[in-house]
Amino acid sequence: MILFSFLTLALVSLAVADPIHIPLRRRNPFVSGDGQLDTSKVAVAAQRMRERYGYTPNVTSTSSKRMKRQGQSVGVPIINQQQDSSYLGVVSIGTPGQNFNVVLDTGSSDLWVAAANCAGCTSSTPTFDTTKSSTLKQAGTTGSQITIHYGSGQVSGQIAQDTVSMGGFTNTAQTLLVGTTLSQGLLDGDASGIMGLAFQALASTQSVPFWQNLISANQLAAPEMSFWLTREITNQNAKDDEPGGVFTLGGTNSSLFTGNIEFINMPSATQPTFWLLSMSAVTVNGNNVQIPTGNAAISAIDTGTTLIGGPSSAVQAIFSAIPNSVALSEMQGFFAFPCTSNIEVSFSFGGESWSINPADMNLGTVGQGLCLGGIFDLTQGSDVSEGGGNPSWVVGDTFLKNVYSVFRSNPPSIGFAQLSNAAGGGSAAPSGGGTQGSATITATGLPIPTGGASGNGSGSGSGK
Ligand SMILES: *[C@@H]1O[C@H](CO)[C@@H](O)[C@H](O)[C@H]1NC(C)=O
Ligand SMILES: *[C@@H]1O[C@H](CO)[C@@H](O)[C@H](O)[C@H]1NC(C)=O
Ligand SMILES: *[C@@H]1O[C@H](CO)[C@@H](O)[C@H](O)[C@H]1NC(C)=O
Repeated sequence: MILFSFLTLALVSLAVADPIHIPLRRRNPFVSGDGQLDTSKVAVAAQRMRERYGYTPNVTSTSSKRMKRQGQSVGVPIINQQQDSSYLGVVSIGTPGQNFNVVLDTGSSDLWVAAANCAGCTSSTPTFDTTKSSTLKQAGTTGSQITIHYGSGQVSGQIAQDTVSMGGFTNTAQTLLVGTTLSQGLLDGDASGIMGLAFQALASTQSVPFWQNLISANQLAAPEMSFWLTREITNQNAKDDEPGGVFTLGGTNSSLFTGNIEFINMPSATQPTFWLLSMSAVTVNGNNVQIPTGNAAISAIDTGTTLIGGPSSAVQAIFSAIPNSVALSEMQGFFAFPCTSNIEVSFSFGGESWSINPADMNLGTVGQGLCLGGIFDLTQGSDVSEGGGNPSWVVGDTFLKNVYSVFRSNPPSIGFAQLSNAAGGGSAAPSGGGTQGSATITATGLPIPTGGASGNGSGSGSGK
């Protein structure tokens, strides 16, 4: 990945400049005054190098998980929270490791976890006790205080460094934010934070994201992260936490998709920020609708956002193609359509057309036989202007549940494939919309309006 080579080059030139501080007689910094090799200096330097590149020293062996050796891929079980509202994975932080469920978010780049006694946490939020980690380091002398802003709120806290593991991959010097003040509703249930999976340039902590550290340390078999996300929106009896699929770090899992993966290169940028694609076509029940091009087609592919947000004209065009749909005055930017309609919207980013299950488009009843649509106008009711450096579309889980998605950093590209039968694809696609009681909407990636749709679950079914 371009960004990373650049940073590596900068480090190399620093290292070249360093000998200025070393007396000429001692060309080798590891040799003592008496000409003997000082092995302890070598060990310290090696340890610094390992930490910089994320290799695990054996001090973290208190973790029960075995260390992953170079070039592996591993499947991390995902938790589906509140009927497809968020998708979480388990991360271990500190020594000994404390385990937390964090939102797997391709729409942001920071890792943070709620601190013990955090303001804004609920009594059910598991929190990170920094005093119990022997490896925690505060950044700087006092620790830098920062705030990270998300669509659904913000978190403030101190930047720190500690050992972080996921799926057996470990970085012993991962920068993270220890969140001491959270805005209300930022976390639900037993979630404790967010694992940002986008690029460093987007990080409020300005640090290298966990996944990029694993790649630079050659821990991953391939510079890829893949998602199979389950659908629970049609399950009236869904518990707060249900099995959410598989997050594969370091590759793909061939049992979860069929056919080819359609990889599409990200629109070129000197520094990747979000995971981006350009929306090339949208259909509603097989008919093309007019969508804007150029910057207004730039789409963030965001596992951390529940729904799909798009530019005004495209969202209006989509609902214009659905007979008797209406704009909701009480929910700015949202539309409703007759619950009896069977709406199949599909997106193209390259040649293939990827359909959204009608059940995912239907967020439940909003009264008068109308059901809330899963696509909304991103710019309305938001202070973010269209195209102004921000993605014009945010393609969240409403879409991503319908495909196997692969985020590949070299070359920066995103791939989609059809889910296998084992992953609920093909004929196993669930039928029936509108059975859910209410939709909880989260958007961690971007500033977008949030709000819960109220519905009593009387929507009619809409089989695929
Ligand atoms: C790692 O383990 C080896 C052998 O068990 C030991 O000699 C070495 O000191 C340990 N290193 C660290 C950094 O703890
Ligand atoms: C691939 O996914 C299947 C189904 O979840 C799982 O049983 C298997 O262990 C996974 N394989 C790898 C290598 O992660
Ligand atoms: C749900 O809403 C529909 C239409 O809005 C109404 O006819 C029905 O009686 C409601 N059901 C319940 C259980 O409230």
